[in-house]
Order: sequence, then structure tokens, then C-alpha cells
Amino acid sequence: MTTFWFLSYLLILICLSLLDDGCNKMFVEGLGVNWGTMATHKLPPKTVVKMLQDNGIKKVKLFDADEATMSALAGTDIEVMVAIPNNELLDMNDNDKAKNWVRRNVTRYNFKGGVNVKYVAVGNEPFLTAYNNSFVNLTFPALRNIQNALNDAGLGSSVKATVPMNADVYGSPTDNPVPSAGRFRPDISDQMTQIVQFLHENNAPFTINIYPFLSLYADSHFPVDFAFFDGASQPIMDKDIAYTNVFDANFDTLLSSLKAVGYGDMPIFVGEVGWPTDGDKNGNIGYAQRFYNGLLPKLAQNKGTPLCRGYIEVYLFGLIDEDGKSIAPGNFERHWGIFRFDGQPKFPMDLSGQNDPNKWLVGAQDVKYQPKKWCMLKPGADISDSKKLADNINYACTFSDCTALGYGSSCGGLDGNGNASYAFNMFFQVSDQSPRSCNFQGLATVTDQNISQGTCNFPIQIATSSSWKLLQWSLVFLMPFVLLFI
Ligand SMILES: *[C@@H]1O[C@H](CO)[C@@H](O)[C@H](O)[C@H]1NC(C)=O
Ligand SMILES: *[C@@H]1O[C@H](CO)[C@@H](O)[C@H](O)[C@H]1NC(C)=O
Ligand SMILES: *[C@@H]1O[C@H](CO)[C@@H](O)[C@H](O)[C@H]1NC(C)=O
Ligand SMILES: *[C@@H]1O[C@H](CO)[C@@H](O)[C@H](O)[C@H]1NC(C)=O
Ligand SMILES: *[C@@H]1O[C@H](CO)[C@@H](O)[C@H](O)[C@H]1NC(C)=O
Repeated sequence: MTTFWFLSYLLILICLSLLDDGCNKMFVEGLGVNWGTMATHKLPPKTVVKMLQDNGIKKVKLFDADEATMSALAGTDIEVMVAIPNNELLDMNDNDKAKNWVRRNVTRYNFKGGVNVKYVAVGNEPFLTAYNNSFVNLTFPALRNIQNALNDAGLGSSVKATVPMNADVYGSPTDNPVPSAGRFRPDISDQMTQIVQFLHENNAPFTINIYPFLSLYADSHFPVDFAFFDGASQPIMDKDIAYTNVFDANFDTLLSSLKAVGYGDMPIFVGEVGWPTDGDKNGNIGYAQRFYNGLLPKLAQNKGTPLCRGYIEVYLFGLIDEDGKSIAPGNFERHWGIFRFDGQPKFPMDLSGQNDPNKWLVGAQDVKYQPKKWCMLKPGADISDSKKLADNINYACTFSDCTALGYGSSCGGLDGNGNASYAFNMFFQVSDQSPRSCNFQGLATVTDQNISQGTCNFPIQIATSSSWKLLQWSLVFLMPFVLLFI
């Protein structure tokens, strides 16, 4: 009798897998996260790995193959995507250098108790129009050399090279009015076709980053509801399919683009998706919560998209806030974490999509902070010289993170004095509270009172290793000279 039930169960499973569209077969289920490390004060990698484990996160995507990170991941079973940064793509066009890279960053960790490397990301959004075609002809040869090196090392069946792409590989929304019209951008369509063909030959996934927040950021007429998952008042009709969110529309535009070049059945990974919590009028906790409250249950229920039902492999962006990231794309860039810079959750979130309070994110443990001291505009300071004040604020914000001060951000409501204190404190914290870093030509003073105001948190940085100290000291020593010349 048991055998009968077992066989029926098996049969059902087989039928279900046949029903699957094919765009998402073959993977172990579960959410991954992007672990970026562009922070001035990094949590120790071991602390982060413990945090991943405590939260049941079994997959990470890195932006390099940093030794300290890799050794912290060693011996865990966490699946890892290591990465080759764009500025190394040229080197990877050289076959020997590619072989060497694979040896040093993949093969080296391939032993029992090593690192479970499953993917190599070759470049990061190399075809972004902002890069002026710098990587257009470098990406495919690099991908080919890396996968071939993996194959030669005997790792080809377990480690796949892929290229995380930005959604602009299929042009602007006006180029693709409906998802079924999706095509790759004409200027890169040859390169895209080569890449897709090669990925397919090697059973490797296509990786796409999807950012509903950026759709909203880029276009003030973008319907807000369409960025989230709770239904849109004006769905986009694509023949008989109603699209109610831009995530689905974006994913299916890719699927149509792949179909158009003959590979509609490729596995697709979402390499990055998430919502920032500060640094823009739409970057806040409320919207981030609304976004994840829609995304996570949708993923957990394997709803897929209209053209690709079933499980989708997804890596959230990102794990921890990074106060050292470039803000060229916008102030929000430093606020993508589901955890703050210190590894504490920003808001309750259940990654399994069940909204179960027992599964809410748990913070990093044993985090070491600097003392509870803040730097502020000295009460009664002579601020009649407005240029002097502005120059000092400017200096502080050049070398620390003031992105929360912008319009609509968490500290956007501060008055001029509050602004100055915020800037001074951020510089003081990033300088590890060295006493000289809270002077600003006599305008600033240290306090042990928490000077946070309303929604604006004046943070205390975490304690850091010595590697940053030299840079910090030089900044502090340089300050009087730099100010002399502004
Ligand atoms: C690859 O490994 C080498 C040797 O450990 C290291 O120096 C290099 O930074 C690694 N590459 C990346 C992108 O992390
Ligand atoms: C791309 O070109 C623009 C305009 O010529 C320039 O301002 C920008 O710095 C360039 N970006 C890169 C990454 O080369
Ligand atoms: C890439 O290569 C093609 C074919 O060789 C060439 O026509 C094109 O100008 C190159 N593009 C860039 C940006 O170098
Ligand atoms: C505070 O600083 C921000 C960012 O530098 C600026 O946009 C804003 O106008 C300032 N507000 C006041 C009241 O000075
Ligand atoms: C300072 O006060 C804010 C707002 O009350 C609070 O969120 C924050 O945790 C406090 N910081 C410290 C270091 O106690």
C-alpha cells in the first residue's frame, strides 16, 4: 500500500514538473542575497556568515571573491556566486589570465570543507548605457574564457558562469510597450545573441537585475501601484494577459527577448531585486515594506510570472547598507540593505514569505560599537560666517555619508543647525570618533547626549579594524589644508 502511494506521489511530481514552463526548472529552492562590501566600516565576515545562517539564508551573490569573505564562507554549505568586476573583464579576454583567475578564486576553494561555489558572475551590468560601450566587446570573450577554464578544471557541470545584466539590455519601456514585444537593444543584439547561445550550450542561467524602484525613480509619471504587488488600478494589457506589476512585465519582456533569439527555454535568475529605505522620496521603510510584503509571498508561492509559472531563482539586493558606494545613480544607493550597516534588521521581515513573527529577521550578534558619543554644532558657535560653515559641512559630507539629508529622506526635515550637526557627526563616526575629527575650525563639539531628532537617526558607527585608521588619520590631518584652499 505504501508503495502504491509513493508511486502515485512520484507520478504527480513528474506530471507537475512536465507542466512547468521550463524557464525555471533545475534549481534548489530558496532566496539568495547580494552581499556587497562597499562600507567604510564592515562587519567581520564571520559575523555576517553567522547572520546568514541564523536567518536561514542558503545562497549569496558576491561582487568579487575576496579572501576574507571566502574563508568565512568555507565549511558552510551556503551556495556562492563569486564575481569578476567589470574592470577585470579586459584581463579575462586573455585565456591564461582567465585560467589563472579560476584557479585562484574557484578551484582553490573546491575541497571538502571549502566553499560551495556554484556560479561565477562575469562582470556586473556591463552593457549599461552609462558605461559608454566600454565593456560591450569584452564581455563575451571573458564569459567564454571563464566557462572554458571551469570546464577544463573539471568543474563545468557544477559551476556555471553567467553575466548579470541590467534591464536596459532590452531598451527603454517605450521600445517595449508590452512584454511580448521584448527584444534586445539593437546596438548590442549581436553580443547578446552570442552570450545567450553560449550560456545555453553550457546549461548556464541568464541573470537579470530588476528594479521597480528605478522605474519609479526615472519617470515621475510612472504609476506608483505598478511598482508594487498589491494590484494596479490600470493594468497593462498584453493581448489577453493583464500585467499588474512591473516586476512581472520586466521578467516577461526578457523572456520574449530570449524567445526572439531562439532561446525562450533558458533558466533565468533574478540577480538583484529590492527596495531602498532612504535617500529618496520613494526610498523609505514604508515603501520597502510594501514591496517585500508583496514580493516574498509571491516568490514563496511559486507564482512566477504570466509567461513563466513556477519557481524563480532570486537574489535580494541587498544584505547590508553600504556607506561607501558611489552615489552617481542617486543618494538611495547606500540604503538598499534589508539590514542596517550594523547588521540589525530595518523592519520585520519573514524571508519565507509567510509573515510569521517567529521567522522575522534576526540581527547580527556581538556587534562592537564605538562609544555613545556624538559630534554636534557647538551651542553658541559663531555661525555668522556662512561660507565657513558651508565649507565645513561640505568637507564632512565629502568624506562621510550625508545621503539621509536630501529632500524626502529621513533627515530631510532638519534645519540648518541640525544639518551641520548631522554632517559633523557622520564625519566624526566615520573617523572612528578621533577627537580631532570633531573640531571643524572650532564650530563643533562632542556630546554624550543622543542628538537624534524625529525620523533622523544620528548613528554611532561600529568599531572597525585598523586598516581604515591610516586613511582616517590622513583625512583629519589634511582637513585644515584643504579648507584653506576651498
Ligand atoms: C582572486 O583571488 C586572488 C588571490 O587570492 C585575489 O588576490 C583576488 O583579489 C581575487 N579576485 C577577486 C575579484 O576577488
Ligand atoms: C560616458 O560619456 C559621458 C559623455 O561623454 C561622460 O560624461 C561620462 O563620464 C562617460 N562615462 C564613462 C563611464 O566613461
Ligand atoms: C565592437 O566590435 C564591433 C565588431 O568588431 C565593432 O564594429 C564595434 O565598433 C565595437 N564596439 C566598441 C564599442 O568597441
Ligand atoms: C540641509 O542639507 C541638505 C543636503 O546638503 C540640503 O539639501 C538642505 O537644503 C539643507 N537644509 C537646510 C535647512 O540648510
Ligand atoms: C538614539 O535615539 C534614536 C531615536 O530615539 C534611537 O533610535 C537610537 O537607537 C538611539 N541611539 C543610540 C546609540 O542609543
